[in-house]
Amino acid sequence: MIVCLCKSVSDGVIREHITRGASTLACLVRCSGAGTGERCGACHCDLRRMIAESGANESQSGTQSDSQHNAG
Ligand code: FES
Repeated sequence: MIVCLCKSVSDGVIREHITRGASTLACLVRCSGAGTGERCGACHCDLRRMIAESGANESQSGTQSDSQHNAG
């Protein structure tokens, strides 16, 4: 299923990035490309929900997990 219509990013791709350590919306957006549609962001609540459902901690600022995620 496509989660981000603007960038054609599927739920499978999103889940893979979350599994790899994208535990914040900012990290997930940067790594997957989802949520970067110009003047859109309609999928952000879905992205947040998927992070929350995964059990990842979205309350962090994202800087720590960002560097960990981008390292691999
Ligand atoms: S649907 Fe994701 S940015 Fe528009």
